[in-house]
Amino acid sequence: MRTQVGIIGAGPAGLLLGQLLHRQGISNVILERRSAEYVLDRVRAGLIEQGTVDLLDQAGVGRRMHAEGLVHDGVELSFDGEHHRIDFKALVGKAVMVYGQTEITRDLMQARAAAGQETVYEAEDVQPLDISSARPSLTYRKDGVSYEIGCDFIIGCDGFHGVSRSTIPAEVLKTYERIYPFGWLGILVDRPPISPELIYAHSERGFALCTMRSATRSRLYVQCPLDDQVEDWSDDRFWSELALRLDPSDAARLVPGPSIEKSIAPLRSFVAEPMRFGRLFLAGDAAHIVPPTGAKGLNLAASDVFYLWRALSEHYETGAMAGLDAYSQTALKRVWLAERFSWWMTSILHTFPEASSFEQQLQKAELGYLVRSPAAMTALAENYVGLPY
Ligand code: APR
Ligand code: PHB
Repeated sequence: MRTQVGIIGAGPAGLLLGQLLHRQGISNVILERRSAEYVLDRVRAGLIEQGTVDLLDQAGVGRRMHAEGLVHDGVELSFDGEHHRIDFKALVGKAVMVYGQTEITRDLMQARAAAGQETVYEAEDVQPLDISSARPSLTYRKDGVSYEIGCDFIIGCDGFHGVSRSTIPAEVLKTYERIYPFGWLGILVDRPPISPELIYAHSERGFALCTMRSATRSRLYVQCPLDDQVEDWSDDRFWSELALRLDPSDAARLVPGPSIEKSIAPLRSFVAEPMRFGRLFLAGDAAHIVPPTGAKGLNLAASDVFYLWRALSEHYETGAMAGLDAYSQTALKRVWLAERFSWWMTSILHTFPEASSFEQQLQKAELGYLVRSPAAMTALAENYVGLPY
């Protein structure tokens, strides 16, 4: 078989790129290792920048997002028994949207199926071949039959544990990593959010985040030790620990209920460079991971896709390679800015088991300065709503 662009991975990055290329008349095939149900079942974050909203609109999948998404003009920080609102609208004139990544994936999957675009689910042993040549290809097995797809370009949207990044020769690939000494225990619960906006809480017992999926469904997180297991956390223990980390007025509004999903995610900062080798390009989690504190994971995947879509469109319209040649450098500039912001949010809001008393005092001073300085609040706001592409 043959296509112009072969995409590995039907997560938000692969599906969004596929949809944008399809609307540009550029043929593409997506190979996904898992089933469609499995991909949809994964509970992920749900906060999107204006840039991501605009890209989903350009992909023609914005209708439900605008109908069901929640627009937020600010966010709450809570520590030392006080609330501090960061007013995005007043500080930088922009807002964010709360709309679950699962819903975005569902909208993209439906649009792709409606457009008759090819996605091979449960594709086994996907392998990018000849990526240094002008005629790379993808091989995979499905139901015991081996297939090969010739393509002009291969896009690795296969996440952190995918095959693409490992296809780049070790002597070329450089990686940067920070693993944090804690994780996030998250639950999904059909209880109304305790606040109309997100609450990022810092306490001596650790970090907590109160966010939502809708007016009736909440997503709640507490910082937990890395070696904790989900089994260690009954719903009761979760609710009582969350209450201890929030200021009393928030804790009083908590309405405990049975979790419908509960999972622990480790926190990691990771960047792989370059994001391109020959005819192979990496996008999204395949190239970079951010701790979720800055809500940048999905939004970085979207900006990678924006740069790739623009460069591939230019190539197929004019034959030019300039945009593709500049892709890695262009994308990495924004990636490192988001890595910095996500690391900084994680550093000021979490409790580090090994922190010295001096570091603890510095953290207090950092939080104190942040909520008293319009300049510092503006810096947080402009990063949180999304830096320009
Ligand atoms: N062959 C085919 N598909 C693969 C392979 C492989 N070898 N390895 C992984 N995949 C698929 C996974 O099953 C998954 O569906 O690639 C997809 C990668 O999707 P994501 O992990 O969601 O990554 P991405 O699309 O880059 O989205 C990034 O996801 O994890 C969140 O916080 C992150 O919000 C960010 C977003
Ligand atoms: C979420 O809604 O799951 C969410 C929101 C903001 C974050 C992380 C997760 O920083």
